Amino acid sequence: MEIVPSLLSADFTKLSEEIRAVEEAGATRLHLDVMDGNFVPNITIGPFIVEAIRKQTKLHLESHLMITNPEKFIEPFIKAGSDTVVIHIESSQDVLRDFKTIRELGAKAGLVINPPTLFADIEPYLEFIDHLLVMTVNPGFGGQKMIKEALDKVVLAKPYSEKYGFPIEIDGGVNIDTVTDAKNAGTDLIVAGSAVFSNGKPFEDYRALMEKLRSE
Ligand code: DX5
Ligand code: ZN
Repeated sequence: MEIVPSLLSADFTKLSEEIRAVEEAGATRLHLDVMDGNFVPNITIGPFIVEAIRKQTKLHLESHLMITNPEKFIEPFIKAGSDTVVIHIESSQDVLRDFKTIRELGAKAGLVINPPTLFADIEPYLEFIDHLLVMTVNPGFGGQKMIKEALDKVVLAKPYSEKYGFPIEIDGGVNIDTVTDAKNAGTDLIVAGSAVFSNGKPFEDYRALMEKLRSE
């Protein structure tokens, strides 16, 4: 089980220091939250910022596209340096076509499911993915409370993950009180935004915070 810091809660006025701090704290991946103000009620980063992040780090960059018409932006986000591109079952018009585009451009194809969406909606695609992201909050903002019922989808996806070899990641509301439930459900990767970054914590604390989440 690995903690994947989400830069959404980082201090963007000192992004390179934030990235270096989580690298030094042992992160091997970074989670990048891309929001368009349409699919979700918030706007965050575009390919231009991903490109700037790419120049700062060799960590695996997973771009979580919370956008309408994701097919239009797969190429820009991969050219900007994304290693994995994760698209929502709720916004893609053709998941298999989008996976093909992602792979042809040399990245890994991820699928993500929102809390209200049924597992049955993603089940037919699980043999074609490199990565599964299970949302444990309704996407749009960091610092929300975990919707624990969504963890049932991790349990349901586990046999497919074992059969097809993709990791399961959860996203949203992870903190010291909820991380154990996430682990017990069988998740391989755990996104953590507000539990790692911000709140005026000094960089030196990041290693301790990530260790604590890992070992809880
Ligand atoms: C929410 C994003 C998350 C967010 C998680 O829409 O997809 O990645 O950064 O933040 P926390 O860990 O604070 O819930
Ligand atoms: Zn995310």
